[in-house]
Amino acid sequence: MCGIIGYIGDKPANEIIFEGLLRLEYRGYDSAGIAVLDNGKIHVKKDLGKLSHLKELLLTDFGSHSPQGIGHTRWATHGRPSAFNAHPHGDSAGTLMVAHNGIIENYMKLKNRLIQSGCVFSSQTDSEVLAHLISINYSGNLEEAVLKALSEVEGAYAIAVIHKNHPDRLVCARKESPLILGIGEGENFIASDATAILHHTRNVIFLENLELATVKRDGVEIFDLSGNRVEKHIKQLDWNPVAAEKNGFPDFMLKEIYEQPQVIRNTIGGRTSEEEGKIYLTELGLSGPDIFKFQRIVIIGCGTAYYAGCVGKYLIESLVKMPVECDLASEFRYRNPLVDSHTLVIAISQSGETADTLAAVKEARKKGAKVLGVVNAKESSLTREVDGLVYIHAGPEIGVASTKAYTAMLTSLTLLALLLGKIRLTLTPEFVSEQIRALKILPQQIETILANHEQIKELAQTFMNSKNFLYLGRGFNFPTAMEGALKLKEISYIHAEAYAAGEMKHGPIALIDKDMPVFVIATNSSTYDKLISNIQEVNARSGTVIALCSEGDNEIYNHAHHKISVPNVSEILSPILNVVPLQLFAYYAANMKGLNVDQPRNLAKSVTVE
Ligand code: AGP
Repeated sequence: MCGIIGYIGDKPANEIIFEGLLRLEYRGYDSAGIAVLDNGKIHVKKDLGKLSHLKELLLTDFGSHSPQGIGHTRWATHGRPSAFNAHPHGDSAGTLMVAHNGIIENYMKLKNRLIQSGCVFSSQTDSEVLAHLISINYSGNLEEAVLKALSEVEGAYAIAVIHKNHPDRLVCARKESPLILGIGEGENFIASDATAILHHTRNVIFLENLELATVKRDGVEIFDLSGNRVEKHIKQLDWNPVAAEKNGFPDFMLKEIYEQPQVIRNTIGGRTSEEEGKIYLTELGLSGPDIFKFQRIVIIGCGTAYYAGCVGKYLIESLVKMPVECDLASEFRYRNPLVDSHTLVIAISQSGETADTLAAVKEARKKGAKVLGVVNAKESSLTREVDGLVYIHAGPEIGVASTKAYTAMLTSLTLLALLLGKIRLTLTPEFVSEQIRALKILPQQIETILANHEQIKELAQTFMNSKNFLYLGRGFNFPTAMEGALKLKEISYIHAEAYAAGEMKHGPIALIDKDMPVFVIATNSSTYDKLISNIQEVNARSGTVIALCSEGDNEIYNHAHHKISVPNVSEILSPILNVVPLQLFAYYAANMKGLNVDQPRNLAKSVTVE
């Protein structure tokens, strides 16, 4: 995720900003920049690379006595990592500079209109649109210009603005992406999160959604986007810097579970056109003829990434009507895989550094297959080994147990399946529009599940001392059962096994007794009735069933001892929603056992060796 810093006071702005950007490095980035206002002139310096390499550039002969400026660390979404795509971005005349975190979903439409009105763009980013939009709306009042510009913007943003005619202020605003104000003595700050300013001040104001602030040396004023003044109370944070990185959560895993609504918004970002029923995956690197040439698809990955691939198999087979095989990378690499130039291999990896996955990709390419990477970490090894990419935009995932990366992988695979289906003519624009609409509702549906966390916590308390667990699912949610079992295993150390529910009668049902709790994923699906039968099979043998079901399902009460309901969603999107209660269940069980959920025993975040 990008990081934003703003400063106005009486110290050299570039030094304060550089220090603040260093404290935001944990958010992950590929380029950085600072803009300062010095005697009516804006100075901007930015480049590709890490701050340690940019120190010289950003801290020397650079309007260095200017007490006002903004800075940014960029996690690339639109436009590859580069100096010209780095923030801050300015308007053509260099009258103002903007730093932005988020995704402007309608940026293409706005950019085309701005170009036609004479704006000259210097980057491939969606963010630069904001600089030109504010500029053409400016007629002396900076706040008004920002409000008018934002009224045309769709998507998520946290922005900080400086203008050469306004040496007395910074202006900032937010929608979805977080932004806070730091209140000092004769100086004030803007930051993406408290980590960047805690060592200056613990007095903060959390900007709420759809609010704008004017930040001056001697005070701040806050408005809603209609321009009405909003009164705010200053909060005093007692966080230490590490706690600030967790944004107030007790650990990274819970923070990342709660980040999922925003992550899915970021993953979808500016990649869809609902009205046209179109998907844009600009870094795909595969042409239409390439995609028509493929006769089959093989998906590879490890652990959670492999389970995401298993959902991908169901998605692509049902939407694109192509045969899909899903294999563990550690198996694929040694089995002399039967792939060739007519095979598309999709390699999924959060870190992009997993040794088995990298080796499997090399093996596939050696045999002539094209390889598409579904990856989170920009500039990782995997991104240099593939023919095309779909970034999942989950932001840095610190917790060893993967959560937000998994739902971002599933969202990315859904976008990919929709795109492939459009290209291979198995999907109509109307169907794609409907799926885009449904995808955009998922974040608020996940928020509904998160709001129900107390019920899940109570269930975890009931079962935290179990020695074994079974997870059962069918179809799209068989991989959900596998991922749920993995979460419980890897952070609570309770043995958990996932089975295709139809498989129970072929042996595993012998395991059922009162000490074997069974999670059954029984949300609305084409196999719902079969799942009810499976629940009855477990009940008949004194098993205990926790059913994951859809809101409004009263039938399930007749069969399950416990139920967790989730909002209604189509079967193809249900894995994205259904995994969230399973993540929370595993988290609370481990947390109540006093275990380290962020660094479970024996595990590493990225397995870079065999
Ligand atoms: C899942 O919670 C684990 N962290 C692990 O299974 C992980 O998914 C696996 O090692 C693959 O990692 P990658 O996505 O970075 O390749």
